[in-house]
Amino acid sequence: MAGASPDLDAVTAKITDVLGATITVDRILQATDKSLLAVGAYRGRAAVIKVCSTDETFWQDKLEHEIGIYRAFASCPPPVRVPELIHAAHGRGIVIEHIPGRVVHTERYPSGQIAPAVLDTILYTLLGFGAWNPPAEALSPVFDYPGRVERYHRIGIFDHDDRTALHRLIAAAGPLDVVAHGDPLPSNLLLADGGDCVPVDFEFTGLFAAGFDLAMLHTLLAGTPDAQSSIEAIVAATGIEAPFLLNKAIVLSRELRLHTELEDGRFRAARLALIQTQWDDVRSRLHSRRSTATPATAVPSSKETTECSGGDPKSMTLGDDGT
Ligand SMILES: Nc1ncnc2c1ncn2[C@@H]1O[C@H](COP(=O)(O)OP(=O)(O)O)[C@@H](O)[C@H]1O
Ligand SMILES: [Mg+2]
Repeated sequence: MAGASPDLDAVTAKITDVLGATITVDRILQATDKSLLAVGAYRGRAAVIKVCSTDETFWQDKLEHEIGIYRAFASCPPPVRVPELIHAAHGRGIVIEHIPGRVVHTERYPSGQIAPAVLDTILYTLLGFGAWNPPAEALSPVFDYPGRVERYHRIGIFDHDDRTALHRLIAAAGPLDVVAHGDPLPSNLLLADGGDCVPVDFEFTGLFAAGFDLAMLHTLLAGTPDAQSSIEAIVAATGIEAPFLLNKAIVLSRELRLHTELEDGRFRAARLALIQTQWDDVRSRLHSRRSTATPATAVPSSKETTECSGGDPKSMTLGDDGT
């Protein structure tokens, strides 16, 4: 590419090598130990190219999983807009439609207001995504919920009483077969120029207890006025309190672990304060639930819907995500 910086040349060469296809790279979006993302063109079409930049099997498997999700979208489109799959290279790279716009936020825990109309669009999009009727066998459970409770008990995040209450909640939470994006970080939600919210980054997409995406967003938007109450209203209206509480416990325990591992400092302390306050609240709800709480019969089960008949994408088995 004429006038390209050496960085762009190097990135172009790497991507071309990984994909085994000719591409043009205009801009590097993100370069981490894990992935390299660039905006460019593939066969004359504006595209985002994502390649795995690590040899770690975990992340290669995640990218392969994401490719499988894009293939499932192609055969059974979800009810909300997602980028179109343009090209994929087994476990190494993917080329998708470029969506002009911006991300909801670059911070994991945004602060400040999100405009009510934008928040509505985000929630509408995630609920719509959750109503996706994927091809048969295309999605599998992402978490082994009981296994996670055991693991977080072993590392001391859940105490004995939490563990007991959580196992009881798993039994009451209804089927663990509800479609969710699985990682609805503000940076994984694009606000397209036309006003749509378009999710990206489907490395953790699969089946969960109901309300996983809502629980994650509820956690991350703790510093955004009115966001939590809007999510709580949806949870109450759809009768998914039990699985939502379970997902909150799962999300918060992971956030606690991830942030505890950070280097000591003000950033860590501020984040941990935000997370700990929510965990204290979830814990008290968890322990105040009566042991005879009725199972969540109102929880929607994806198995009750008619399966999409188109295509036959490769089945994916993930098991616990290890994070
Ligand atoms: N189709 C797309 N159109 C526009 N921007 C995108 C697209 N896909 C990803 N991005 C941008 O690239 C960033 C990283 O992509 P993502 O798939 O989330 O990678 P990672 O798995 O490394 O987080 C996103 O936060 C977004 O800013
Ligand atoms: Mg991402």
